[in-house]
Amino acid sequence: MITGKPLFTKEQIQDRVKELAEKISHDYAGKDILAVGILKGAFMFFSDLVRAIQIPLTIDFILATSYLKTDSTGEVKIYYDIREDVTDKDVVLIEDIVDSGITLNYIRERVLAKSPMSLKTCVFLDKRERRIVDVPLDYIGFEIPNKFVVGYGLDYDDKFRNLPYIAIFKKSVKI
Ligand code: IMP
Ligand code: MG
Repeated sequence: MITGKPLFTKEQIQDRVKELAEKISHDYAGKDILAVGILKGAFMFFSDLVRAIQIPLTIDFILATSYLKTDSTGEVKIYYDIREDVTDKDVVLIEDIVDSGITLNYIRERVLAKSPMSLKTCVFLDKRERRIVDVPLDYIGFEIPNKFVVGYGLDYDDKFRNLPYIAIFKKSVKI
């Protein structure tokens, strides 16, 4: 179940997304970006972010999973891969949340192997305490404590992705 007040409201999210988009637009001024969204979780963050970025870009997606309910399986499976040619592109990987770091690290290495001109990572939430693999993060929306969160694209068992805010989720205990 969803507990208490939102961790981040719709308004807080929109303000932060705008700041990130401004920073990215500034850092890549004069260049084109290939923005790669990591599905499913990043779909909402991705679409808000690319709409606020002020420089030319193309988009693509990767559909990957590593998570089962609230526990990471530690294994990454790719269901859909980038179709754009990444060679000589300035790629920005856009992810919903980094927990152990296994998923983003795996995807990052996979894209690096295709020789992009540059590769940066942009994540909406950083659950730093849980990190196992030290994957470099270039743009971070918010750092969060070790709590399971849903909404704004993030799910529990594929539900709650449509909430326009971030909430803390607790499994309800039946007695
Ligand atoms: P990692 O590989 O352990 O870093 O896990 C990253 C993936 O696990 C993310 O792409 C999310 O889909 C999922 N995940 C991690 N923490 C949460 C959470 O608090 N809520 C929802 N999904 C999460
Ligand atoms: Mg994800």
